[in-house]
Amino acid sequence: MAKNLLTINDLTKKDILDLIAFSNNFIDEDGNFRKEDLFPDKIVANVFCEPSTRTKMSFAVAAGNLGCNVLDFDVDTSSIQKGESIFETIDALNLMGVDLCVLRHPESVIRDLAEHLPKMVFINAGEGSISHPTQALLDMKTIIDHKSDLDGLKIVIVGDLDHSRVTSSFVEGVSNFDIDSLVFCGHPEMCQKYQNTDFGIYEPDIDKALKDADVIMTLRIQYERFEKDLNLDLDSYKSAYQLSSEKLGYAKGDAVIMHPGPVNYVEITESVYDSENSVIRQQIANGVAVRMAVLSRFLSS
Ligand code: CP
Repeated sequence: MAKNLLTINDLTKKDILDLIAFSNNFIDEDGNFRKEDLFPDKIVANVFCEPSTRTKMSFAVAAGNLGCNVLDFDVDTSSIQKGESIFETIDALNLMGVDLCVLRHPESVIRDLAEHLPKMVFINAGEGSISHPTQALLDMKTIIDHKSDLDGLKIVIVGDLDHSRVTSSFVEGVSNFDIDSLVFCGHPEMCQKYQNTDFGIYEPDIDKALKDADVIMTLRIQYERFEKDLNLDLDSYKSAYQLSSEKLGYAKGDAVIMHPGPVNYVEITESVYDSENSVIRQQIANGVAVRMAVLSRFLSS
């Protein structure tokens, strides 16, 4: 396995399946996370230069469960506010003896950092709109938990795909498997990257897109990443793309509904979020187990 987890493409299909299987060992028979004092001599720094709840907190919980020392870097009170670059910041952490850096950053800086600081392990916790590999792992684990396999499934992704690093990493991850089909659905201006691809089909009509779906991944509109004002009529948007109970009727009865969070209830109704098909809250819990597996593997390598 590579030294760093910078993209899901750093992992082979076997690596992905091994990490998912390994993550199951960190959940006991009652569904609680095991606490193992495996890495008491390791220091993990969580450096999040963009907002996060799930990823940042689940990495902190995962590292704590493994017995690591966890540093919660606060960008707002750091010397980044005094003009220090991300390179000087991470180098300072490296000089202090931090073993592993979990980094979320709006720009593509993680490869350069990993190259220049070879003693430190880097785990990508979100790189602009580009990639989010541990989210893809937890998404694939959640699907396997419910469907036992990724092979043969019809998977539909609905929403603001263009700004979604969750989508790009998920698409890279599932490209290792023999899925039946991958369908991209959403407002044409939010799916420009996905209208002509080799790895899936774009279907703007949600009723057609959802027909016989096994897995539906819903995504919020990432207003913060649009370069110009989005003149969107929300009622029309919801009518076309919001996953409602009525639209869910086009999918298979046992379809699983996913969302990486945070949920805005524009892309999905509260009743679908709360429905028995929804595995959205399980995705959050799986984030801890998957990140325990990732930290364990990359701290050991
Ligand atoms: N899924 C995800 O990355 O959520 P956060 O932004 O809350 O970490």
